[in-house]
Amino acid sequence: MIIILMFICICNAINERQVQSAVAGGALTMSDLREQLGVATCCGRCAATAAEYLPSGRLGAHAPAAGLGTVVVEAANDATVVAPMVEEVVRRA
Ligand code: FES
Repeated sequence: MIIILMFICICNAINERQVQSAVAGGALTMSDLREQLGVATCCGRCAATAAEYLPSGRLGAHAPAAGLGTVVVEAANDATVVAPMVEEVVRRA
């Protein structure tokens, strides 16, 4: 199995798996992610992307409750997840 992870916060080297794990562990707000992981504590450019993983965010429904690897692979193969992420990357480029 190949798992491809995306970095959410470049400044602090925080990847998608860490953010998803924090949300699965109960993080509900950006303040929670800042306190637990340090997301958006430097340049802040990752804040909007990280917020998408919160329960209220557009990717929040994909936060893993268990079996993180399986969920990540499922998300990577789900066009409804990947397409918005690609659009966001293109928009920011
Ligand atoms: S990319 Fe997250 S603080 Fe800069």
